[in-house]
Amino acid sequence: MLNLESNKNIFFLPVNTGFSTNQTPDSRCVEFYRERSGHGLHCAIVGNVVVPEGVGSNSACSKISKNPAWNFLAEAISERGAKAGIQLASCWPGYKGMQNFIAKSVKHNLAVYRNTASSITECEVIAIFDSLKLGTDLATAAGFRHIQVHAAHGYLFNLIIDSRFSRHSNLAMAKLREWTEQLAELEIETSIRLSLATGATELDDSEPHEPFDRIAGLGFNYLDLSSGFYNLNKRLIYPSSEDLLSRRIAATVELASRHPQQNFIVSGKSLIGWNKTLPKNVHIGICRDLIANPNYLREFSDGCQNKMKCHYHSRGADFLTCGKWDNP
Ligand SMILES: Cc1cc2nc3c(=O)[nH]c(=O)nc-3n(C[C@H](O)[C@H](O)[C@H](O)COP(=O)(O)O)c2cc1C
Repeated sequence: MLNLESNKNIFFLPVNTGFSTNQTPDSRCVEFYRERSGHGLHCAIVGNVVVPEGVGSNSACSKISKNPAWNFLAEAISERGAKAGIQLASCWPGYKGMQNFIAKSVKHNLAVYRNTASSITECEVIAIFDSLKLGTDLATAAGFRHIQVHAAHGYLFNLIIDSRFSRHSNLAMAKLREWTEQLAELEIETSIRLSLATGATELDDSEPHEPFDRIAGLGFNYLDLSSGFYNLNKRLIYPSSEDLLSRRIAATVELASRHPQQNFIVSGKSLIGWNKTLPKNVHIGICRDLIANPNYLREFSDGCQNKMKCHYHSRGADFLTCGKWDNP
């Protein structure tokens, strides 16, 4: 159960709100983050922002640019006391996120991920990391002080770093190290979002997850552990059942215990039902409870009620809403 006394940093995890106009965050986005960035929050991470030469996972994604709207957004977060964070991401041309929660054919969708990954060339890997660097420069110039690479959920950076999919994972590791070193010099906090499992049993059951051990040595301030590939099983991304929640939290704690020098972010319904002590190096990420109630850090008992309205893409809508906003 969440306990703010425990000296943990609390993160508002990335949310792709859809509150954007012409790929730029609009006033709905600024107000959404302003409302949720107080009460001792360490960092609010603006979700799924596309790098300059990148491709969004859907048409509602924002793209980092020189537009002053990014400065307003970073300022709205830092004015309330939290570090302004941003998650940089990309998909690939033709990517389409499924609306179903579970793939009709996991086998087929896994094959699509594999084919996509195997067709990526070394030049393309270099180009996407160049774009990450450009996006990072734009984000820091706008006032963001925590940058997260989105390498989870089966998006492009996920496929490139995972040696089960990619021929270029060594190159990707070298690029990530270069990136963390540059940002450490600028005193910008860094994290990488990773998926613990894919959602395809043949991969998750059989292969030990050695990429995590390598990534834990690359100089990130935090490894933010999510789970699932979007087009395989979204229940892993947004866990609600006791079983999924406890597996995700236990896997994070296990990995963190093996890497005591590396900080981690654990998440899943604000750790409801988790009664064991968290290792010192594990910090807490919250998403749906803070979406539902901007004052959740003061009102722990009053968070998300699992009304499922926030899953707007699955419902064919373009921007975030919440069943609790309609019926407070
Ligand atoms: C509406 C919505 C949008 C999300 N958008 C993103 C996103 O852009 N990037 C990302 O990595 N995770 C995204 N997530 C996943 C959350 O960051 C978080 O990992 C997940 O909801 C589990 O945390 P929770 O149980 O505290 O909600 C999103 C979740 C929701 C509900």
